Formats: sequence, structure tokens, C-alpha cells
Amino acid sequence: MFQNICGDHQTYCNLLDGNWVKPTSGDYIEIFSPVDGSLVGKVPAMSREDVDRAIANARENLKNWAETPIYERASIFYRAADLLESHAEEIAHILTMEIAKDKKSAVYEVQRTADFLRYTADAGKGIAGEAINGDNFPGGSKTKVSYVSRVPLGTVLAISPFNYPINLSVTKVAPALIGGNTVLLKPATQGSISALYLARVMQEAGLPRGVLNTITGLGSVIGDYVVTHPGVNFINFTGSTEVGKHISKLSAMVPLMLELGGKDAAIVLPDADLDFAADNIVSGAYAYSGQRCTAVKRILTQDSVADQLVPKLLSRIAKLQVGDPRDNAVIVPLINTKAADFVMSLIDDAVAKGATVLTGGTRNGNLIQPALIDHVTTDMRLAWEEPFGPVLPILRVKDMQDAIDIANRSEYGLQSSVFTKNIHDAFFVASQLEVGTVQINGKTERGPDHFPFLGVKASGMGTQGVKYAIEAMTRPKAVVFNLDANSQ
Ligand code: NAP
Ligand code: G3P
Repeated sequence: MFQNICGDHQTYCNLLDGNWVKPTSGDYIEIFSPVDGSLVGKVPAMSREDVDRAIANARENLKNWAETPIYERASIFYRAADLLESHAEEIAHILTMEIAKDKKSAVYEVQRTADFLRYTADAGKGIAGEAINGDNFPGGSKTKVSYVSRVPLGTVLAISPFNYPINLSVTKVAPALIGGNTVLLKPATQGSISALYLARVMQEAGLPRGVLNTITGLGSVIGDYVVTHPGVNFINFTGSTEVGKHISKLSAMVPLMLELGGKDAAIVLPDADLDFAADNIVSGAYAYSGQRCTAVKRILTQDSVADQLVPKLLSRIAKLQVGDPRDNAVIVPLINTKAADFVMSLIDDAVAKGATVLTGGTRNGNLIQPALIDHVTTDMRLAWEEPFGPVLPILRVKDMQDAIDIANRSEYGLQSSVFTKNIHDAFFVASQLEVGTVQINGKTERGPDHFPFLGVKASGMGTQGVKYAIEAMTRPKAVVFNLDANSQ
């Protein structure tokens, strides 16, 4: 897809004003594979000067793009979706090598992105305003009518994380573009090659020059500069709570959407179908080595239930394929050594304080065997911190209310699951949990992508999900007609 546009087949450039440009500094960042340490490619280390150019160009193209009919914008999305599908194997391979995502999940991420583009194209055609008569408010009159339309905010800065470098880029880029904004995409460095493939697809689909520009480079180096750039009108960020909070301190009246960390609980009540619950919990906790914000990251259940649930969990964990994502292993090397070190530190802390490792928890490089840790108590870091790795703690609670109380003590509030056959208990628990979404008898997960997806507390602010994201990145504009003949 890149045909050596930027030099050799492993050197990439950034999209700026419809051209693939090299960094003014000449500096590149080498991206090595977490799978086998091989060089996946080199991406530009963009400088502040490059950021200035990219944002200035995005702003120069605002007017033309905002005036492009929505059906024309939508037609580009349909073509982009078709291109993604036709290049799915090629792009999925890049994903697998760049972030160690298993091949099946990588192909699914590309397909999911194509689906998202089509759905957003259709949803964009539904962007509408309203007309409001003045006389339905005391003192108003029929001679006053407000015509309200939705208009773009301007240039959107989209910052995406490593674990879904294509899909969590498009969930920002597509709603922003269909709403008439121009976009600057800053992908996670480990994942930036995959994200550049998305930009290439959008360009090949006919996206006009300067409507989508990309900047690769370490967030720790250019992040603050781009976040505080006066040319940015909206910041759409997905990543860690730490960075999200940092950005929110810097953003100074620029509207934000933040999708951050999570510590999703699976609350298993005594009447639950434990085989069904075990299926969902293991799938939800260990897919992609637990590197999902919506992964199940703690089990809250009573002793009697835990004693029955544990063997069911262990038998399923034992069947998880561990190793090379190219062979569709779901337990794969973590994204980097720092991540693996962090996971092991949580396990070590729990064991030191009396927890029991029922299985896994051993490490070979950045590959950690899927771990199930029982008798985790609230004095342990693993009870509260987000591992972003294949480790699942069991906290034994006194009763349903205790489970709710512990669930709500988390700083996070992304999602929670509750497993029970009693619909009254299900709705009661759901009503009490301080989270964005409660899954009743299902694992915690973002999809389907037209659902509202949001975190509260330390898990974020604002709501993703197609129509919610379009609404967040557009605004009302009112034109009031004063029709009183005397005012002529
Ligand atoms: P991260 O380290 O916070 O990085 C996220 C993005 O922010 C990357 O593009 C990163 O660039 C950039 N960044 C870093 N420092 C920045 C700064 N000062 N200013 C602007 N941008 C900056 O997160 P990650 O490791 O990619 O993803 C894992 C975390 O994200 C986990 O906590 C997970 O829960 C969360 N996450 C949440 C969701 C959700 O939907 N709620 C989804 C996925 C992930 P670099 O890569 O160059 O550092
Ligand atoms: O961590 C990324 C978040 O978007 C999870 O998505 O579909 O794996 O629940 P999903």
C-alpha cells in the first residue's frame, strides 16, 4: 500500500496536505516487534515545526471540508471501508507484528473499522438541526423563530492508544470528519505504522488533501506541545488515566473527550450459571493478554461461589493458547518490558501480602502465563490497580452489597458485569454501580460500536459511540429570524 513512498519499504512518512512527508529533523523512531524483536519499520519523530505545519494545513482546509456535502463525505467512507477489507490481511499482519495482537483479532480489528466507517457514513446523513417557534415560551412570539443547525468545531486532535491503533483511531477520526471537522491524528508510537495504514486508506478513498494529517512521535516529546496548540479545537484522547489527567490539566477550555483506564469488575451472585460466567470471565479477562481497557480485571464473589467457580476458571485458563500471535495465541508478549515489569510487580505485591497464585504468573521475557490470583484483599495493589496484562484477582466478599461497595471504591468507572438469574438483583446491582456501562450476564466490552461507550471517575469523560461522538465533535448554531413586520 505504501510502495516505498518514503524511501524503503520499512521507512514511513506522515500524511500532510495530501503528501507523505519526512520529518524536518530527519529523525526517525524505530519500531520493533514485541513478537520477535524484528524491525517493523521506522516512523518520523515529528518536531514542533512539523506539528505547526500540520495544524496550519488542517485549518486552511477547514472551510472547504465543512462545505463538502455530507453525502460526499459519506461516499469517501464507503470507499475506505472497501479498501480496508481488500487489504485486511496485509494490514492485519502489520498489526500483529507491531502490537503482538493475535492474527484473528487483528483481522477483526480491520473489519470492525470498516464496519465503523460505513455506520458513521450512514449516521452522518442523519445529522440534523431543528426549528423552534418563539411563542411557546412566555414573552416569546410567533414572529421569532430559531433555526438551529449542527456545525463542526474546527480541527480535532485525535490521540489513540497502542492496543487498537486502527480501530481507536477511526472511532475518533470518522465521527470528526463526517461532522465536517479536519483532523490531526497522533497515534501511539507502538502502533503508529498501523495507524498510518489507516491514513493511507483514507487518502486512497479520496479524502481531500489536508483534511486528515498525521503526526508520529513520542507523546512524551511532542504531546504537550500538540495538546496546547492554539490551532486545536477539540481533543479526543484514548489512553491511560495518568496521561488523560495530564492532558485535562493542560487543555484550558479546549473541549475534551477522554477514554481512560479501567478496573472492570465481574460480580458473580450465588444463583449465577457458573459455567456461563466462567466462559465470559476468562474470555473477557485474558483476550489479547488482558490489554483491553474493558478487560475483566477483578472477580467479586462470595466464598461459597468462589469455591465452585475457581475450578471452572482454571479449566478454561488451561486451554488458552499461549505464545505467538501469528499462530493465534491469545496470551501473547505484552507491548513492552515496562508493561510486563508492572504486571509482575502487582503479582509480587499480592503474594507478599498473602494472596494465592492458583495458576500462571511466571514470565518468559514479556510473555506472562495467564494468572488467576485468589484471596486478594483490599490492602493489595492488585485489588485496585489496572494491570493491562493477563492477571485476574478474585476478591471474596461478604454479600451482594459488599460486592457493590468494593466495586464502587475503585477510582475507575468504565464497565462492570453482573452474573445472576435474578433480574431484580441484576437491575439493583446495575443501578448501584458507578460506571459507564453495566453488562448483565455478559463480559465487559465496548462493542457493538454504535452503543454509548464511556467511563466515569478516573475512566474518562465524554461518550464515544458513533452518534455520541458525532454530537460531541459538532455544536449547535442558532439563527433567529425576527419576522415582526415592524422591524423591517
Ligand atoms: P498511554 O501511554 O496513555 O498513551 C496513549 C496515547 O497518548 C499514545 O498515543 C501516547 O503516545 C500519547 N501520549 C503519551 N503522553 C502524552 C502527552 N503528554 N500528551 C499527549 N499524548 C501523549 O496509553 P497506552 O499505553 O497507549 O494504552 C494503555 C492505556 O490506555 C491503559 O490504561 C488502558 O486502560 C487505556 N485505554 C483505554 C481505552 C478506553 O477506551 N477507555 C482504550 C484503550 C486503552 P506515545 O505512544 O508516543 O507515548
Ligand atoms: O481497550 C480498548 C477498548 O476500546 C476495548 O474495546 O471491544 O475490546 O471491549 P473492546
